[in-house]
Parts: sequence; C-alpha cells; structure tokens
Amino acid sequence: MEIIIKDTYEQVSCAAADVVAATLHTKPNAVLGLATGSTPLGLYKELIRMHQEGTLDFAQVTSFNLDEYVGLSRRHPQSYHRFMHEHLFAHVNIPEPNRHVPSGTSDNYREYCRWYEARIEECGGIDLQVLGIGGDGHIAFNEPGSSLGSRTRIKTLAKQTLEDNARFFESADDVPRYAITMGVGTILESRRIVLIANGENKAEAVADAIEGPVTSMCTASALQMHRDTIVILDRGAASKLKMIDYYEWIQANQQDAPR
Ligand code: GLP
Repeated sequence: MEIIIKDTYEQVSCAAADVVAATLHTKPNAVLGLATGSTPLGLYKELIRMHQEGTLDFAQVTSFNLDEYVGLSRRHPQSYHRFMHEHLFAHVNIPEPNRHVPSGTSDNYREYCRWYEARIEECGGIDLQVLGIGGDGHIAFNEPGSSLGSRTRIKTLAKQTLEDNARFFESADDVPRYAITMGVGTILESRRIVLIANGENKAEAVADAIEGPVTSMCTASALQMHRDTIVILDRGAASKLKMIDYYEWIQANQQDAPR
C-alpha cells in the first residue's frame, strides 16, 4: 500500500485525478471502477475540468460502478445512477453503452449479479478502481462481516451506514435497507486501486483499514492483500495513523529510491 497524505481535500482530489489521468494516458481504453458518496465529488470535478481543458479523453473508456441502492429507480434523486449522471457522466465523453451502474430494480438479482461479474470480465477486468470508505470501514457496500472473497450480490445495509447516509434522504427510515454491491473479491481483482478519504470522521476506519488486522470486520483492510493500492488522505482522515511519520518519510524520500 502506498499512503499519500495531503493537507486539504482539494489536494486529495487532484492527486486522485492525476492517478486516473495517468491510467488513461497509458491506456486510453482503460476500464475504470467508479465510486459514489461525497468523497469522490472533488475527484470528479477535477476529471471534468481536465476533460473540458482537452487534456483527458474518455472516448474509449468503459466504467463499472461499485453499487446501487435496491428499490431506487435510475431517476430517483438519491440513486447512484442519478449521482453518476449528475456528477460525471453528463460532463465527460464515456460512451453511454460503456457505462455500467448496477441495477437497483432487477426482477432477478441472482442472475443480474452473475451478468455484472461476467460483463466486467468480458471488458477485460478493471484497470483502476476508485474507492471511498464508510465510517465502519466498508468499501462499496461490503459491510462488516462480508466475506473477503465475496462477489457482486445483494447486501443488507448496517445501521451505521443507514445513519451515515440518512443525510441524503428525508430520514434514516427512507434509506433503502438493501444494496447491490460488487464484492470484496471483485474489488481485489482490479489491477490498481485508489482509495480516497477525508475528514476526521473517517480517521478510525482508515487506521483500522491500513494498520489493523486484515478482517471482514473492516472490509477495507482486505486492501492490505492487494498488490497495487494507493491510499490518498487528508490530515483529518490520517489523524489516527500510528505510522504517519513513516508514511511521510517515505513520500519525502521517494524520488531517491532505487528503481
Ligand atoms: C457509501 C458507498 C461507499 C462510500 C461510502 C462513503 O456507503 N457505498 O462506496 O465509500 O458511502 O461515503 P462518503 O464518501 O459520502 O463518506
């Protein structure tokens, strides 16, 4: 894991956007794994800025989103379909047939989840997966207790997640109880992962994920097993890391490291 600590959320967003841009510059037809939530908003703004400036082209990109609430139609204001449209898809040129967001309104989820997994494989697998982290350490909607080998499936959301996400709905009661989500195993198959987090409210989850034991109680900790994960944090999210001085030392000395 590479840990990068930045002073501000804007810097976190720009650093993450640089990782995405580097991927697309090396492989213009890359498959991107995309996340929702408030954390990647700054990253998406930056990608849109690069695209509008003419330095980033998504014409050959394929994308797969991590998750969607079950029961929300594509047009529901809080659906992840709508989120992606508003905050990214409407502003960049990922061809519509290449965009995949799991359906929250399938009549056969078992079959749909199988199809979603097969479709990722058919497109060549995910080159770069963008992740946020939940307050309980979840990635996508892989709540504590999720198998670290899990695949795309329906997950019952934990109470903390319902409460955390209540801010987007009228009340916690309005947050859907179920979600369709890529599994931890699906995510770990991505060739590269960039996890971003900001704010002190993520500090404990971040510390558990990076420095705690690998455990299904904090599904982000499974990233310790991944060979190419970059974690980009602001000072708030990094504030509970025990080895923070070392991570900063590595960053400061990285340029001179033998290659
Ligand atoms: C939801 C999403 C996750 C996201 C998390 C954190 O649970 N399924 O993908 O990482 O929220 O969201 P936020 O960035 O708003 O804190």
